[in-house]
Amino acid sequence: MKTRKIAIMGFGTVGGGAYDILTANREYIRNTQGIDIEVRSILDRNSAPLSARGADVSLFCSSADELAGDPEIELVIETMGGVEPARSFIIKMLEHGKSVVTANKELLAKHWCELEPIAKAHGCGLFFEASCVGGVPIIRALGESFQGDKVRAIYGIINGTTNYILSKMSKEGCDYADALKEAQALGYAEFDPTSDVEGFDAAYKLSILGSLAFHTCLPYGRIYREGITKVTARDILNAHDLGYEIKLLAIGKRDGNSIEARVHPVFVPKDHPLASVSGAFNAVYLNGDFVGDLMFYGAGAGAHPTGSAIVSDVITALGGKKKYCDFDNCGKLDGSMELIGDFVSGYYICVTVDDKTGVLSRISTILSDNGVSIKSALQRAENNDAATVVFLTHSANEHSVMHSLQSIAKLADVRSIDSMIRVL
Ligand code: HSE
Repeated sequence: MKTRKIAIMGFGTVGGGAYDILTANREYIRNTQGIDIEVRSILDRNSAPLSARGADVSLFCSSADELAGDPEIELVIETMGGVEPARSFIIKMLEHGKSVVTANKELLAKHWCELEPIAKAHGCGLFFEASCVGGVPIIRALGESFQGDKVRAIYGIINGTTNYILSKMSKEGCDYADALKEAQALGYAEFDPTSDVEGFDAAYKLSILGSLAFHTCLPYGRIYREGITKVTARDILNAHDLGYEIKLLAIGKRDGNSIEARVHPVFVPKDHPLASVSGAFNAVYLNGDFVGDLMFYGAGAGAHPTGSAIVSDVITALGGKKKYCDFDNCGKLDGSMELIGDFVSGYYICVTVDDKTGVLSRISTILSDNGVSIKSALQRAENNDAATVVFLTHSANEHSVMHSLQSIAKLADVRSIDSMIRVL
């Protein structure tokens, strides 16, 4: 059996995880898949990560040109992260006829439409199962498991860091800042947590998943994005009182030529399967027109779950498979499609008011004048003659709710609009 030689660019957590699996299961893969895979080179800034992981230091390589020029290497795993130099290195590898397996969601969300034609022109594959939801095989499922169905909607908990933080707030009643500190101490959140907590990471993944699910390029920059930094311990308490958990959801929906794509915190009913996805776990809940509802659940990050997705792509690529998406209007939403901003949702609204006669009626009049119907309301007396009023609305148009909030904020006896969170 011919040994197939591959390389790894970036030997951090995920690259190291893929290496562990390729090494530990080499014989198993040979026996079950009929492919003998050898890691021939590992590119990084220095050899320290190789020594730290107990990898053979003679595999160390410091030059992408050297890697690209090695005729024996037929495939390269990219686990460097970030846009540059990963983008340039991937292009170099593709131009030298090497297929690429990447875990890089930011790069893919921003440059898929540049990379795919290069891969195609050079007869190479570009694989990215590991870019979304770690070890959960959602990319392959979307491409190869229910091709006869139209995917109508995707609801994803696709960022483990924010799910860990929100779960901790939910279980312990702590504030966002304290939950973030613990997530950082445990290594779930980065020192600079912006990409996760502001929803960028989830938006990159939604761009990739939505493009595959809806068969049209869903440009990352067009996705509405709101993170979890404004979710308070009080919001979580209110959610519990009303029968909900708060989750950061990535939502993609397609109805004919209309698409909705948004990432924001959501009140999820406690009996919905997504409400019980806690800690750093991820899940993608989707609906197809004939298959109905499905939920994919598992570890969305980590060396070995993500490494497992990479190794699966390596085996698929070495088996000769190549798949291109060939979006008609790459980089832009297809001309026939409309991305809608005025979607319909339920809303949770929390307002602090002067505890005076008539204030509730003035607020409900504004909501009713804008066609927003109240489903339930609760009020709590606070110090300083203030009261907190919580409304849950029936389904309403986003623009009507925003317009109502602007008018409510102008009422003399409204001290502050504290929160507005959409309801699933
Ligand atoms: N930062 C990501 C998360 C890692 O928290 O889910 C996987 O993309």
